[in-house]
Amino acid sequence: MSLHIGSITPDFEQDSTHGRIRFHEWLGQSWGILFSHPKDFTPVCTTELGRAANLKQEFEKRGVKMIAVSVDDVESHKRWIGDIEETQSAHLEYPILGDSDRKVARLYDMIHPEANDTLTVRSVFFIDPNKKIRAVITYPASTGRNFQEILRVIDSLQLTDNYKVATPVDWKDGDDVVIVPALQDPAELATRFPKGYRAIRPYLRLTPQPNR
Ligand code: BEZ
Repeated sequence: MSLHIGSITPDFEQDSTHGRIRFHEWLGQSWGILFSHPKDFTPVCTTELGRAANLKQEFEKRGVKMIAVSVDDVESHKRWIGDIEETQSAHLEYPILGDSDRKVARLYDMIHPEANDTLTVRSVFFIDPNKKIRAVITYPASTGRNFQEILRVIDSLQLTDNYKVATPVDWKDGDDVVIVPALQDPAELATRFPKGYRAIRPYLRLTPQPNR
């Protein structure tokens, strides 16, 4: 099954470092990110899991639950967490799914056989409170992810859900945003964007971030 932006995120039941998890039930009404790791006790993954743990408050502020998956079993994950906490000065409070049967990896197409037959790539699935996949990023095992970029994507998704705007290149929270081209009615523009806007082209209109 291929997963697209807008697909309902597939449900599953799997063991984790926090016990048995039924994914949809675990997500509840929250946003979520599900991120995969090729293997336990590997260097890049160790740094990523530590960074995710240290950004706990940033994810919480945005109402996002984090869950990781790696193709080893839960006992291995528990031993690895000790190393992650010690080497990354982190305290891991989010669950890591055991996936030695590759159930989650297969369901989410995280194994790319042309890269590696058995290990996952580094995927991140961004899931909204309606359990829709809203964004996906995929990196090879050799490239660690940028967790500031993950937070930036969440900020963009949450902002653009609530206002008729989109976020331009390299946008970060607080920067100007663009007004969606479909919005043309002058009265609605004035109501929605009381701070005004700059029209560089009729289709390229910049406005201060409306929730600031
Ligand atoms: C790592 O996390 O360091 C890693 C994992 C698999 C292949 C290459 C690097």
